[in-house]
Amino acid sequence: MSLNEKIQSISEAFLKDKNDFNSGLITFEELKNKYLSRKGLLSELYPLLNDIPDSDKPVFGKKINSVKNEISYEINQLIDDENSSSDSSFSIDSTMPGLDKLSGSIHPLTKIIEEIKSIFSRIGFSTIYGPEVDTDYYNFEALNIPKDHPARDMQDTFYIDKETLLRTHTSSSQIHFMEKNQPPIRVISPGRVYRNEDISVRSYCLFHQIEGLYIDKNVKFSDLKGTLDYFAKNLFGENVKTRFRPSYFPFTEPSAEMDVSCIFCNGKGCNICKYSGWLEILGCGMVDPEVFKFVNYDSDLWSGFAFGVGIERIAMLKYGVKDIRMFYSGDVQFLKQFKL
Ligand code: DAH
Repeated sequence: MSLNEKIQSISEAFLKDKNDFNSGLITFEELKNKYLSRKGLLSELYPLLNDIPDSDKPVFGKKINSVKNEISYEINQLIDDENSSSDSSFSIDSTMPGLDKLSGSIHPLTKIIEEIKSIFSRIGFSTIYGPEVDTDYYNFEALNIPKDHPARDMQDTFYIDKETLLRTHTSSSQIHFMEKNQPPIRVISPGRVYRNEDISVRSYCLFHQIEGLYIDKNVKFSDLKGTLDYFAKNLFGENVKTRFRPSYFPFTEPSAEMDVSCIFCNGKGCNICKYSGWLEILGCGMVDPEVFKFVNYDSDLWSGFAFGVGIERIAMLKYGVKDIRMFYSGDVQFLKQFKL
């Protein structure tokens, strides 16, 4: 066999042995010894250089070197692969707890809004939305809030220009809806509202409300009471009692505020209800006929009630959140408590 043929046959033998190694027929040590040891097949080639003419020596010398480099490179690769695969099998510790996938959660305010929507949908209320950027007319004027009313104060309202503002309450949705629809009406309208208030534990420059509007023939204050009592019991539990205190809103007459018996002490009195046994939940009243004038409803034919609930307040009570700013902090530790 010529030197050339010998080199060729070693290359071919190596390919076969590599396959055998991969199939587990020979060990790494066997493979390495066969080719790379001092008595290995490659070492045996060098003495053969003595048998060829001097002029051929450089060419064959190079050939032998390159086959040797190639084979030792491949053998090193095999051991690298071997190490990395044994590394990864080593790193699997089946007794370790698995890594949890981070999953999102529902924002507590969204949860409350969804819950309230569902409570009202069961008694025929549908959900509508009004614009957050609105005009003085919808936010104040058409709700019978006169020009000199303190609620229009620049201190409280974010004005964009003289006419345009960020709505300060969701009551403005009532006007938008009544302009476009005729009674009977049963709607709620959730959304963000904005007020230029000092940020503190209890107030933030934006918050959420749900507005409710019910208009039909012969709607009475007892309908309002029955509906809102149903709402309170579904939100806080069957044992909750409600009471209505006279109040004032320009767009309702008469107006009231609804309290629920304290959900923490069952009305006995605690520091959360300031020892009164009651928690204030919402404002409400019979829609003032003045408001109907703005939307061209005949107040001899139609009557109705409206209410406005603050969502943050409900969420703080239901989830025991002490600081309103938590809802806007984006704090994952806080938010992940509200899994579905
Ligand atoms: N818009 C009132 C507020 O922001 C809440 C309110 C009170 C809404 C009475 C009503 C209502 O619809 O009848 O404080």
